[in-house]
Amino acid sequence: MARHLITSAIPYINGIKHLGNLVGSQLPADLFARFQRSRGNEVLFLCATDEHGTPAELAAAKAGKPVAEYCAEMHAVQAEIAKGFGLSFDHFGRSSSPQNHTLTQHLAGKLYEAGLIEEVTEKQVYSNADKRFLPDRYIEGTCPNCGYDKARGDQCENCTKQLDPTDLIDPRSAISGSTDLEVRETKHLFLRQSQMRERLSAWIDTKTDWPILTTSIARKWLNDGDGLQDRGITRDLDWGIPVKRGTEDWPGMEGKVFYVWFDAPIEYIACAGEWAEANGLDDAAWERWWRTERGADDVRYTQFMGKDNVPFHTLGFPATIMGSGEDWKLVDYIKSFNYLNYDGGQFSTSQGRGVFMDQALEILPADYWRWWLLSHAPESSDSEFTWENFQASVNKDLADVLGNFVSRVTKFCRSKFGEEVPAGGAYGPDEAALIERLNTRVREYEGHMDAMEVRKSAAALRAIWVEGNEYLQNAAPWSTFKDNPEQAAMQIRLALNLIRFYAVLSTPFIPDAAASMLAAMHTEDDSWPDDIGAALETFAPGHAFTVPEVLFSKITDEAREDWQSRFSGQRS
Ligand code: MF3
Ligand code: ZN
Repeated sequence: MARHLITSAIPYINGIKHLGNLVGSQLPADLFARFQRSRGNEVLFLCATDEHGTPAELAAAKAGKPVAEYCAEMHAVQAEIAKGFGLSFDHFGRSSSPQNHTLTQHLAGKLYEAGLIEEVTEKQVYSNADKRFLPDRYIEGTCPNCGYDKARGDQCENCTKQLDPTDLIDPRSAISGSTDLEVRETKHLFLRQSQMRERLSAWIDTKTDWPILTTSIARKWLNDGDGLQDRGITRDLDWGIPVKRGTEDWPGMEGKVFYVWFDAPIEYIACAGEWAEANGLDDAAWERWWRTERGADDVRYTQFMGKDNVPFHTLGFPATIMGSGEDWKLVDYIKSFNYLNYDGGQFSTSQGRGVFMDQALEILPADYWRWWLLSHAPESSDSEFTWENFQASVNKDLADVLGNFVSRVTKFCRSKFGEEVPAGGAYGPDEAALIERLNTRVREYEGHMDAMEVRKSAAALRAIWVEGNEYLQNAAPWSTFKDNPEQAAMQIRLALNLIRFYAVLSTPFIPDAAASMLAAMHTEDDSWPDDIGAALETFAPGHAFTVPEVLFSKITDEAREDWQSRFSGQRS
């Protein structure tokens, strides 16, 4: 039995994610986790909310809530929606957890001991009224370029010009509005990634099996300009993990926190600790996934993420854990995705453009979205969601091919033989030929799933569904029945077995529909079809079933047009 550690990039806490975010990390990670579990492998599948940083502080302020309270609420909201989408995390943690505080401070201490942290004195704007240093985006003023009077210290929203806080005319604090600002010296910590360039580069060189998208981004950052830059890992914010080295205070770093991109990936490890605690397990239980000397050497670790996250996972996080000198597990495979666009433009959280996860579940069950998103995953290039395409794909693949098969077979059997698997006849050459074809296709499907070729996996699965329809069409039990009821009974017995077989194979893509199919067949046997012939003889004659409710309803033109206009603009 293989052991798979699987993580999805952890979504920011502020706000509900759109379908583009979903298909770029959480959903394909779930597909892979479910597949590996189905194969009987041991899986630890982790995700969490990414809770620190300025965006979290700003969103809480906008919601008029203390940031800790805001994060706790939004975590619960995101967890509920994830459940709605069938995301089968073993744990959905929080980067603000005590485990992450301890581990982040611990790793910073190790990096310091290894001489990989530099203390740098910088000049930064200090607000006397607020008694704190202000991050660039917490300073407002008039844009020197266009005169807009609410330009931020990092950028003018009106003319998009990149700014420095000192460029602003009449600068003021965005927190209090105070103009009592001064420039003061302050100390920050820098992680000397540049010292690790050789090591990281050699490590990336060994990853010849990684997607080009992943390695090309990593190489670009390793080699561009002066090569890998040292990066600031501390910020002047209230909300975050206080800067310490291990459990000791860090002189000169009072009141500062770690930068969100430093602590967020560490949550991948801390989350395993949260998982153990939530399940009443000891430290050894999670360390066997993460510490190479305690069993993690034979774990296969796969990360899923959108392309914008690749630099932090190929260089930033590995620099942290390699630099610590401790025996942490390094990632074995990084599956990265391009972007999903929305109906001729981009999904946009700030503009509320596109379909967001909560809205999607309000209009259709999760499986409809899971199927479309996965079968159109932006793997080799960006891809686009259009309502026409979504409608066509749901109606064809799910309703016509899979749903219709299940409904025809069960209804026909009920009307001719009753609601149990009929006896009579024996599989002949046509059935043997079908089994042979299915064998080829299932092995192909497994290969694509193992390789995380998401679109190819979807196409292979659909081809398996199509085989059943073609068999049924040619066998035509409704005609055979008149002259040779035994023959028809045998054909229908095979088709009823195919329903269970399809449920098992389809679970990673459409878990709810698959569960309904198993329930309709009155079985909990979800064993993977290693031997196709045997799998199609699971049900003995006399085994009862129930004709299920419609598995997938078709999307009408009317509904499509309605949604199209409802989601075209501003989110209400
Ligand atoms: N919150 C980030 C994003 O949505 C992803 C963080 S992934 C981690 O882009 F590795 F940092 F955890
Ligand atoms: Zn401007």
